[in-house]
Amino acid sequence: MTTQADIRSALEAVIDVYGVGSIVSQNRVEKIGVDGGMVMLSLNLPVDDARVKERVEAESREAIKKLGGVREVIVMTKGAKPKLGTASGPQRAGGHAPPGPARGPSPFESQAPIAGVARIVAVSSAKGGVGKSTVCVNLALALAKRGARVGLMDADVYGPSIHVLMGTNDRPQPGTKKEIAPVEKDGLKLMSLGFLTEKGQPVIWRGPIVMGVVKKFLQDVEWGELDYLMIDMPPGTGDAQLTLVQTVPLTGAIIVTTPSELSLVDAEKGLEMYRTVNAPVLGIVENMSYFVCPHCGEHTEIFAHGGGRKIAERLHVPFLGEIPLDPEVRRVGDEGRPIVQSNPDSPVAKAFFEIADRVRDFS
Ligand SMILES: Nc1ncnc2c1ncn2[C@@H]1O[C@H](COP(=O)(O)OP(=O)(O)O)[C@@H](O)[C@H]1O
Ligand SMILES: [Mg+2]
Repeated sequence: MTTQADIRSALEAVIDVYGVGSIVSQNRVEKIGVDGGMVMLSLNLPVDDARVKERVEAESREAIKKLGGVREVIVMTKGAKPKLGTASGPQRAGGHAPPGPARGPSPFESQAPIAGVARIVAVSSAKGGVGKSTVCVNLALALAKRGARVGLMDADVYGPSIHVLMGTNDRPQPGTKKEIAPVEKDGLKLMSLGFLTEKGQPVIWRGPIVMGVVKKFLQDVEWGELDYLMIDMPPGTGDAQLTLVQTVPLTGAIIVTTPSELSLVDAEKGLEMYRTVNAPVLGIVENMSYFVCPHCGEHTEIFAHGGGRKIAERLHVPFLGEIPLDPEVRRVGDEGRPIVQSNPDSPVAKAFFEIADRVRDFS
């Protein structure tokens, strides 16, 4: 079992940024987290030169990987000590509180708003593979194209995909007000674990680290002034969900489902979690609802469609709309060019714009 002390002594072999002493003797190591085979290392490297930082990160990773039983190493680097944003109350972008569903008091005293971020919306589903990330990315882009300032946070730490769907592998840089500056693309501010892990590595880890990452992305990323922070959740109701609702006041949740995965029980379980923390459910989106023939335009209902609407009615939450099944959605998604960006006039993109408009009405 690798311990923090083992890791610290391995890091003594890594030469400091100025070439004198090691990163350990020069106090560059801020935090070491160990969780089974997962190691999370936080370094404070006071240089601007990206090549020097990359050298130190790579050598640290190598040194740690040489220790037995280490499966994955996440290195987070920052520059000068972060100056955390002033702890002012909620600043509503645009200067006014959004209308929409009223929030009851939260049972979590630890919740604190993110200064400058007006609304925080979680995109959830009971199961994986229903198109949650696809819906989250395209809704974020649709909101941005309607003029909103939008951030997109990947809380799916087990299978991050925002970096793939948005087609960027840029690395987040140190921020000026907070520790990490988000990556920017197509008008969105992005943060994903996919920017920090090595490509192709499966991420297998347990609760405490998941919670740490979600909290860090919420609190230590320089989101700036946002109208919406859209959060792509992992499926189900686990540690990431719990951390999210305990850390920040959610404006609401969007539940994504497909006609084949529809189950009242699953949808209800998801709703229940948000209800217990008094976060409104903004509504249900039915994805892969029906198939539009690319040749003749005919609509084919592969699964009995319309179940999303029925479930929404039975659970007394809004139905936000349905997205057709379209092979182009997957193709452009794999290429990192979401449909709302690459083909904004397509019927699928129009469906996303309609849902985005409903989200704006409800939040
Ligand atoms: N409306 C759609 N039409 C066609 N393919 C879709 C659609 N929505 C999602 N997909 C595809 O389904 C797969 C799973 O989607 P993803 O967004 O990764 O789901 P999740 O985040 O729920 O696991 C991806 O390959 C994606 O491109
Ligand atoms: Mg996903």
